[in-house]
Amino acid sequence: MRLFVRPKKTITALWSKGTKVMTEEYGELVDMESGCWAAVLGHNHPDVIKVIHEQVDTLFHTHQFFETEHPKKFVEELTECANLSTKYNASFLSSGSEAVSLAVKLSEILTGRRKKLCMNITYLGASADLRHPRDNTYWDDLDVTECLMCSNQNTNEKECSTCNRFSHLDFSQYASFVFEPGNSGGVVLLQPEKLVAFLAGKVRETGGLLVVNEITTGFGRTGEWFGFQHYGFLNDALHSPDLIALGKGIGNGYPVSAVLARENLAEAAIETGFSYIQSHTDDPLGCRVAREVVKVMMKENLVLNGRTVGEYLRSKLMDIAIRNKGIKEVRGRGLMNVVLLDKGVSAEEIFNGLLDAGYFCGFSEQSGIIHMYAPLIISKNEVVGFCSAFEQVLNNVMDK
Ligand SMILES: Cc1ncc(COP(=O)(O)O)c(C=O)c1O
Repeated sequence: MRLFVRPKKTITALWSKGTKVMTEEYGELVDMESGCWAAVLGHNHPDVIKVIHEQVDTLFHTHQFFETEHPKKFVEELTECANLSTKYNASFLSSGSEAVSLAVKLSEILTGRRKKLCMNITYLGASADLRHPRDNTYWDDLDVTECLMCSNQNTNEKECSTCNRFSHLDFSQYASFVFEPGNSGGVVLLQPEKLVAFLAGKVRETGGLLVVNEITTGFGRTGEWFGFQHYGFLNDALHSPDLIALGKGIGNGYPVSAVLARENLAEAAIETGFSYIQSHTDDPLGCRVAREVVKVMMKENLVLNGRTVGEYLRSKLMDIAIRNKGIKEVRGRGLMNVVLLDKGVSAEEIFNGLLDAGYFCGFSEQSGIIHMYAPLIISKNEVVGFCSAFEQVLNNVMDK
């Protein structure tokens, strides 16, 4: 039962390694999607595989009454490596949706409020409480389409507070502002700092919290450790996010996720008597994998590589857009990139052509978008090969 939109062609995966996936129908493909945007270190990273073996051989699942060193160690190691400005406690779960859901729930418990503020472009997860259309009894999904193009966003002239777009909002009702830094359901709409600072500031001013959803933007995907770190105002101890949801990259493809809560908030949540438990809470195997992912990210300097190669990819794609017909826009941050095609150009045809040329990208026919969320280990040479194939395929499609 495959309940999602997918290409007409069958692609059977046999094995994967690094940036490559071997398939039955197309042979070796460069995976420009990192699995489901998760394999930041590349597929089957040997260090991760090694700790999986070690952990499976010793302890991979426990009753929740047991403790291991891993959850605490993970937070310490991540805080140091990602240069987080405040102290967090963590709870480990399995999927990204679960982590976002728990982070949002904690904001409700901690504030005694039920309503949350979010942008309409934000994807939060697959569960009933998070998926579109969100229940407007509990969510205000602010339409920010025009804010993304607002000329005042990059000037000091007009403040968001003077814009009548926000005048109807009662900020004191919100448990949290739930911010997802730009993946926007794979459409990659990067929200301006002024807007984010305004919404986060207003919600916090009246006792609400800032929840950041880093499921896709975390673990180096955007050229920083976390997507929120592109927003300067969030990078000090006072303004750091209150709750952060982690998924995907944290396990490099292994299904582990986490919620980070500011230490004082984590203590306050426990004091309320709120209880949340599922079968894999803090499982040692997932936590151990997450610790190893952090270690490899540092050892291989992958945040920097992702940032540098991502810039290179965008510059090459922009050159292609100038030289050829068919591309409306290239946009992204780090290795979270999309090409927006002109109306009438089929994303699926480009996707098919790239498969034949040895590259696997994501696509949305409905939005006319090709996704490129490559592993952070991808080299400039691979990007050169990809861009040359992309230009060729685009030309073939446009010549039809
Ligand atoms: C921004 C964002 N939030 C939440 C999720 C849900 O994560 P999961 O699919 O692991 O439940 C996703 C998945 O794509 C996502 O991109």
